Amino acid sequence: MNGLRIRFPDGDEAVRGVSFDLAAGEVFALVGESGAGKSLTARALLGMVPRGVTVRGRVLLDGGPVTRAHLGRRVAWIPQDAVSALSPVHRVEDQLAFAVRAVARAGRREALSAARGALAAVGLGPEAAGAYPHALSGGMRQRAVIALALVNGPALVVADEPTTALDPERREQVLALLRERCAAAGATLLLVSHDLTAVRRHADRVAVMYAGRITELGGAEPVLERPVAPYTRGLLASLPRPGVPRRTRLPVLAGSPPAPGTAGAGCGFAPRCPGADDLCRREEPALRTVDGRAVVCHHPSGEAA
Ligand SMILES: Nc1ncnc2c1ncn2[C@@H]1O[C@H](COP(=O)(O)OP(=O)(O)OP(=O)(O)O)[C@@H](O)[C@H]1O
Ligand code: SF4
Ligand SMILES: [Mg+2]
Repeated sequence: MNGLRIRFPDGDEAVRGVSFDLAAGEVFALVGESGAGKSLTARALLGMVPRGVTVRGRVLLDGGPVTRAHLGRRVAWIPQDAVSALSPVHRVEDQLAFAVRAVARAGRREALSAARGALAAVGLGPEAAGAYPHALSGGMRQRAVIALALVNGPALVVADEPTTALDPERREQVLALLRERCAAAGATLLLVSHDLTAVRRHADRVAVMYAGRITELGGAEPVLERPVAPYTRGLLASLPRPGVPRRTRLPVLAGSPPAPGTAGAGCGFAPRCPGADDLCRREEPALRTVDGRAVVCHHPSGEAA
């Protein structure tokens, strides 16, 4: 994706020049505070932006632009809650079989067998496969959604907060399963998540977004263990740490991100950044490479001007 810009009908720009390439088979995470533009970016990858919204920039897959027509074939979407992905009035296996027949010339029996195979691969046996979604637990429904996403062998799976509807124990299981199934299918996984601990565990690379831009992009381990952008450092400082009692007040990022369209000159993070100086307030920082990752900041790692 190159220079992605997303503008609302009122002229506000919520995504302002986001670029990244996805490698085949990798797990790429988008993180950042609420409103950073993660979902819009993820949806743009699938040609799924709301009506009236202008998308500029290119999203390429297999050398061609991604359109809605790819959905369910070359690209698949996993939403936050399984309820919106599954129809309440059809058995789970029938929904998968229907998805198979929507893209391939397959007989009923053949499609059903493919559906059952995909469900078995996520640990859903015949009983769950033949059930209606409401009869399944939240974790089982999310497994069914993963099977549905993967049943047609997509090259790219986009999952926006795929486990937030689940309890913490199930979250880890479902995320591990999603990653494992994508790896087995050779599919790239784009994961939108607030959970930096899960991202550190499951992603190969991570892009940290702030106010419609990427501020730091690189390997998940270096970026989340040794962040160089002040924003990434602030985001990590607000994480609970193992061994620190839950009730302890955690340092959080002071202030809030600018609303789309309100960003002025200079770095968008300057009003909240402990290291901001005149240069930051005057000039928008350009992309540079520091310690093996891409960073958009005048003073990465607190380096002086
Ligand atoms: N349909 C819309 N009309 C107007 N503004 C919108 C619309 N959808 C999103 N926005 C705005 O665009 C910005 C980015 O939204 P987006 O949903 O991509 O954020 P996000 O990073 O996914 O946040 P969250 O973590 O809360 O899901 C936000 O400021 C949001 O208010
Ligand atoms: S450019 Fe300046 S204000 Fe922006 S993140 Fe870097 S140091 Fe902070
Ligand atoms: Mg979102």
